[in-house]
Amino acid sequence: MPHADYSHFTKNGVQTKAAAYQQLYESLTSLVEDQRNWVCNLANAASLLWHLYHSLPSDISSGGSAVNWAGFYVLDPSAPEKQLILGPFMGKVACQTITLGKGVCGTAAVGRDGSGKAETLLVKDVEAFPGHIACDGDSRSEIVVPMRANEKVVGVIDIDCAELNGFDEEDQRGLEAIADLLGRSCDW
Ligand code: SME
Repeated sequence: MPHADYSHFTKNGVQTKAAAYQQLYESLTSLVEDQRNWVCNLANAASLLWHLYHSLPSDISSGGSAVNWAGFYVLDPSAPEKQLILGPFMGKVACQTITLGKGVCGTAAVGRDGSGKAETLLVKDVEAFPGHIACDGDSRSEIVVPMRANEKVVGVIDIDCAELNGFDEEDQRGLEAIADLLGRSCDW
């Protein structure tokens, strides 16, 4: 099928958010099957995520259509101990680098306690997150999910929503599965 068809998330066929994430997971699995280049795979994943959120009916996801940024930050190859660098995304122009331990992305990449143990951060109100970095002033809530390869962090998925409480535990589960798929399907 034409590659653009992967971006069609049918409103009538998808009954739950979990089913929508499953559909995305299956599309992405096909796309990465013969491709391990991380730029290529994250670019298609950003597109799939964007189209997923913007096609979710409001009774399935209240925040979905308000998603204003969907993309990736990866460990900066020129300073992997220090910072993340902007990867493929959909949305407005964003911060180019984020210091590890700073912002939602940098904190998710090393863990809130600074132990180096990456963790998902589901931020229902970005103003309540100390040190949140406002790349896009429209963002009100955010979810950041670490991606790992061979148990080491390689980057994060970052999704922003222009509404408070844009994401829940179902988004977390769906995105963690996608992060796992990307972590093992790309050469980093
Ligand atoms: N809000 C993020 C910065 C990246 S933008 O949302 C795209 C953060 O605090 O790390």
